Amino acid sequence: MSTRIGILTGGGDCPGLNAVIRAVVRRAMPTGAEIMGIKNGWRGLIKNEIEVLTRESVRGILPRGGTILGTSRVNPEDDANNLALIEENWKKHQLSALIVVGGEGTLRAARDMWRDFSYPVVGIPKTIDNDLCGTDFTFGFDTAVTVVTDAVDRLHSTAESHHRVMVIEVMGRHSGWIAAYGGIAGGADVVLVPEHPFRMSRVGEFLRHREEQGHAFSIVVVAEDAKPHEDENFLGPETYAEIYRHNRLGGIGYYLAREIESSTGLEARVTNLGYVQRGGTPTAFDRVLATRFGVKSFEMVEACEWGQMTSLRGNQIVSVPLDEAVDKLKPLDEDIYRVAEIFFG
Ligand code: F6P
Repeated sequence: MSTRIGILTGGGDCPGLNAVIRAVVRRAMPTGAEIMGIKNGWRGLIKNEIEVLTRESVRGILPRGGTILGTSRVNPEDDANNLALIEENWKKHQLSALIVVGGEGTLRAARDMWRDFSYPVVGIPKTIDNDLCGTDFTFGFDTAVTVVTDAVDRLHSTAESHHRVMVIEVMGRHSGWIAAYGGIAGGADVVLVPEHPFRMSRVGEFLRHREEQGHAFSIVVVAEDAKPHEDENFLGPETYAEIYRHNRLGGIGYYLAREIESSTGLEARVTNLGYVQRGGTPTAFDRVLATRFGVKSFEMVEACEWGQMTSLRGNQIVSVPLDEAVDKLKPLDEDIYRVAEIFFG
């Protein structure tokens, strides 16, 4: 019986997941180890949705978005029964290790499975949000920023033709990485991030000032969790609760545009980029990073580096404890924010 290593992808999908899966299978092939694809995140391990991955099953998937394994937000610790089922399926498939590809929630579960139940687990960080500690970048982020940049470029021309303020709402959960990188790359005039609550009065003044200076249009990039400063209550408690409701962010762009119109008299329009930011083909950077993470994860399994995850440090791929990546999120780098701010005011 050859070594059998499971791989699962959990949480929100992101470009580069298929590149990781392919890299793990290809790196394993010469060693004789079998890679078992677990469907739909932790759910597949609970429900016994597991199948062998071959050279054939990963052929042609490098440029594909999403994940051929499917994903879910199921957590093994959600239900006491889950752990018993995982144990049963683990034995049934004679797994000797598990590679878990995920964001903060999925990797926290991986850390717990190793720390509390001694499952031999190795992690790979992924998310378009780039909000994971323990690694300089996650794959998926570069693709999301590329989508935002392209959108901001396109919105420039229509904003200019109509002399409008264009508000572009982007993802990122509680961090402003996508907004700041996309805003800098696209040449946005205003970038609003969760790490720095914004003052509507300042945004309005700045947009009016731009108009007075002869700029016929403005581009505002707002992160989905960017919040007005506590002194500013233009949203009202109900709207506030609606936008920042439990776990599903979205809508701040519309309120911002409404407020810009009423406070400045300028015409504003909104584009919420939504899920296009995490769909579709990965950029070359994300394909390379995901491939390097996949190869490294297999080598970490060979070296029995349990409870660790792959990480990008500078240009090196290294192994760091999963503990570094979970339980807290990585806020936007202040240096990046300072660069974005130079163009705002
Ligand atoms: O974590 C990635 C992310 O795309 C966030 O930026 C966004 O808030 C969230 O996922 C949306 O996730 P869901 O798939 O649960 O709607």
